[in-house]
Amino acid sequence: MLVLVLGGNSEIGLAAAEQFARKERADIILASRNMEKTEEQARVLADRHGVSVRTEPFDALAFETHRPFYEKLDPKPDVVILAFGVLNNQKEAQKDFQLARNTLDSNLLGAASILEPIAADLEDRGHGTIIGISSVAGDRGRQSSYIYAASKAGLTVYLDGLRHRLWPSGARVITVLPGFVPTKMVAGRNPKFGFTPLETAGRDIYNAWKKGRHKIYTGAKMRLIMALVRAVPEFLLLRMRNI
Ligand SMILES: NC(=O)c1ccc[n+]([C@@H]2O[C@H](COP(=O)([O-])OP(=O)(O)OC[C@H]3O[C@@H](n4cnc5c(N)ncnc54)[C@H](OP(=O)(O)O)[C@@H]3O)[C@@H](O)[C@H]2O)c1
Repeated sequence: MLVLVLGGNSEIGLAAAEQFARKERADIILASRNMEKTEEQARVLADRHGVSVRTEPFDALAFETHRPFYEKLDPKPDVVILAFGVLNNQKEAQKDFQLARNTLDSNLLGAASILEPIAADLEDRGHGTIIGISSVAGDRGRQSSYIYAASKAGLTVYLDGLRHRLWPSGARVITVLPGFVPTKMVAGRNPKFGFTPLETAGRDIYNAWKKGRHKIYTGAKMRLIMALVRAVPEFLLLRMRNI
């Protein structure tokens, strides 16, 4: 088995890759823009699990490189983990459209740009799984995070549609909706509902693949919490400032 991690320095992506290496003896490709860090992560994974781990340069914002990047991969992966993402400061993004745009370009357009050639290949082969890491933030727009949330809501719906499209071919799409996971992306934050441990997130992602799930929340309580957040009537939400 071969697993491609897009955003190969993502701590959640690496935690999931680690599960595939340990439990499936999967070989791994870490694709990222920061090659020095990626090479180091590749050495750690390979030493720990005795699988082959290689690296490829990949920038989610360099849309024109995405199709050639995927075309030249040989062999093609069985599992693709879409793990890259940015979380820019909401208040700064309200003032600086370049930051807002960077969030939307990276999390939504970058994802669509690289997943289209991958989806077409999996569809042709009738085999393989795309695991897209979106976010619970996309479940409901709130003042504290709506630009990031919009990018993730778009990604969640995109993945829903891709799953529907690929289903008859035998290729699969899994949507992952993490709550807070303690990675560098959210360093210094103190979330109201606590953190889902990194290892739990990795295990939940692997188990979703193993069990053929379509859409999962990471961490046992997140599904319930987000059902409650979605159920808050709009007139009440407008008066709540702390979510
Ligand atoms: N941690 C959480 O609480 C949480 C919650 C919900 C959803 N998520 C989502 O989970 C995914 C993984 O995040 P994480 O928590 O593992 O954070 P992370 O460790 O910061 O990983 C995100 C990775 O995305 C990469 N990236 C950003 N822009 C890129 C680009 N243009 N091209 C290639 N790579 C790029 C970064 O690469 P560099 O190292 O090169 O900068 C970074 O390593 C993200 O989509 C995030 O939105 C995270």
